[in-house]
Amino acid sequence: LREHEEFTKVKNIATIELGRYEIETWYFSPFPPEYNDCGKLFFCEFCLNFMKRKEQLQRHMRKCDLKHPPGDEIYRNGTLSMFEIDGKKNKVYGQNLCYLAKLFLDHKTLYYDVDLFLFYVLCECDDRGCHMVGYFSKEKHSEESYNLACILTLPPYQRKGYGKFLIAFSYELSKKEGKVGTPERPLSDLGLLSYRGYWTRILLDILKKHKGNISIKELSDMTAIKAEDILATLQNLELIQYRKGQHVICADPKILDRHLKAAGRGGLEVDVSKLIWTPYK
Ligand code: ACO
Ligand code: ZN
Repeated sequence: LREHEEFTKVKNIATIELGRYEIETWYFSPFPPEYNDCGKLFFCEFCLNFMKRKEQLQRHMRKCDLKHPPGDEIYRNGTLSMFEIDGKKNKVYGQNLCYLAKLFLDHKTLYYDVDLFLFYVLCECDDRGCHMVGYFSKEKHSEESYNLACILTLPPYQRKGYGKFLIAFSYELSKKEGKVGTPERPLSDLGLLSYRGYWTRILLDILKKHKGNISIKELSDMTAIKAEDILATLQNLELIQYRKGQHVICADPKILDRHLKAAGRGGLEVDVSKLIWTPYK
């Protein structure tokens, strides 16, 4: 299995240059063999082409006319934009993004078949262009109701709420599709922390408003979070009792408040009125 091969391989690229950042990598990524003998790779921050030498990148930057990811801008709020890239229409970009992402993702298989995926790239925009902050990928058709395959916030941007923004965005897309969704498993430690934080805050807010008089099914309909994930989150918070063969939510306001205080920051909000998108057919 490809996945296990990648597990055991040693880190090959030590650092990358991307836009104004030099970033230390975390894991092995299967770049074509000719790139494996250089400690550092230089990425064009817009088309994500990568090069072995700084001079090559400088030459590339003079002729690369992209100032944002390819594809459609589907969300803009202040300086934040989201672009949707179809892996079939922008194959090289999709592959480059996967190579880059694998440097920070441990137990994920790299998808060579980018045709089957959509990529949602989050950017901070200024007068020089739209700079990638992070992304998530999503299968065009998922049998397992996955609404997100891989998620990454680039290290210089981590721990600022972008991860929760991307997670929230993936559920907003699911709501527009009229489906529930769940992230592909396994989750990394940081992935699980981020999801648990997101689920906890969303669910506690609703429980507080409804004073607990709400079922797991109703919570799932409102949030597009899969019922299993809701149950697991509420069980983890010890808000579930099992009575006469049924799961019952027991939402004592004092206990909810205590959990809410511990739940950390809410992350950056997704303003749905600024999302212009129709589901993939
Ligand atoms: N230490 C402890 N807790 C953390 C850390 C950390 N280093 N990073 C994130 N968290 C937790 C916190 O609870 C945080 O909320 P808080 O800041 O309110 O306490 C929460 O996760 C989310 O923080 P964000 O700032 O919204 O998330 P971030 O932008 O850092 O992105 C992400 C999270 C995408 C998981 C990022 O850590 C990352 O890219 N990691 C590497 C790739 C990865 O592991 N991706 C998930 C794989 S699983 C999958 O793809 C389905
Ligand atoms: Zn370029």
